[in-house]
Amino acid sequence: MDEVLHGHSKAAQGPAGFKQNEYTKIHHVIGVISGKGGVGKSFVCGSLAVELARSGARVGILDADITGPSIPKMLGLAGERATAVNDILVPATTKGGIEVMSANLVLENETDPIVWRGPVIAGALRQFFEECAWGELDYLLVDMPPGTGDVPLTVFQSLPIEGVVVVSSPQDLVQMVVGKAFNMASMMSVPVLGLVENMAYVTCPHCGEKIWPYGPSHLAQTADEYGIDALGELPIDPALAAACDHGTLEDELPQGFLPKAVDAIVSTCEFDDAKASGAAE
Ligand SMILES: Nc1ncnc2c1ncn2[C@@H]1O[C@H](COP(=O)(O)OP(=O)(O)O)[C@@H](O)[C@H]1O
Ligand SMILES: [Mg+2]
Repeated sequence: MDEVLHGHSKAAQGPAGFKQNEYTKIHHVIGVISGKGGVGKSFVCGSLAVELARSGARVGILDADITGPSIPKMLGLAGERATAVNDILVPATTKGGIEVMSANLVLENETDPIVWRGPVIAGALRQFFEECAWGELDYLLVDMPPGTGDVPLTVFQSLPIEGVVVVSSPQDLVQMVVGKAFNMASMMSVPVLGLVENMAYVTCPHCGEKIWPYGPSHLAQTADEYGIDALGELPIDPALAAACDHGTLEDELPQGFLPKAVDAIVSTCEFDDAKASGAAE
């Protein structure tokens, strides 16, 4: 595991970095971030996990959006509880084999509001990483809290994040909300794997024509401005909104829904593995 950590986890080596425990061997940690809430960050994070898992990878999601957890519900884990064995948490597992750790899985009542202050949230994040038996995972996706505040900063500083996927709404692209997320990742020296535009268009159910309610996409232009990859525009799909509500995203997500974003993750991680094994020789 040592070379895994050395290969690509600057954060894990720092004094504040969370360490992996003896029940955990996580090869790659990828963040999913957004400039603000409500753009579909969790939806994209969940969808990426589903696609990676379908490809045969071992996948976990650390729901770091402690005060707005939505991963368990969309993956059919509403009402489930993470178990604890000798103070070590055991993540819940979806029927497709995705491991999930989330505040909603440890709360007495899922509807309890989370009114924790920053240090308590940071403590929960640490527990979800260091005191959780993740087993061996190819990818741990981190659903980051929205924005650029205290908690995302803690995540960036403490978790060995190898790269981030930025999710934005069409309006965010215009209003430069993306810039904040991008700049935060840059300041923390975390590579940005690319930009996904969510809810960009709707497909007419009658004729199949794509309708762009917010006007033509600014994705390519914005990605160009920041020198990052455009990882595709995603439709507004009522069937997927319903799937998130009903916890059936794993079944309902169309095959190859966000291929460019999946490829960006897989190829970056393969590249880092190659670098690490080259360096080890
Ligand atoms: N492309 C989409 N099509 C349909 N519904 C979506 C889409 N993206 C997100 N949603 C819905 O919008 C809501 C907000 O998405 P969510 O992923 O929770 O946002 P965030 O994590 O950025 O706050 C959710 O109810 C989700 O199911
Ligand atoms: Mg969310």
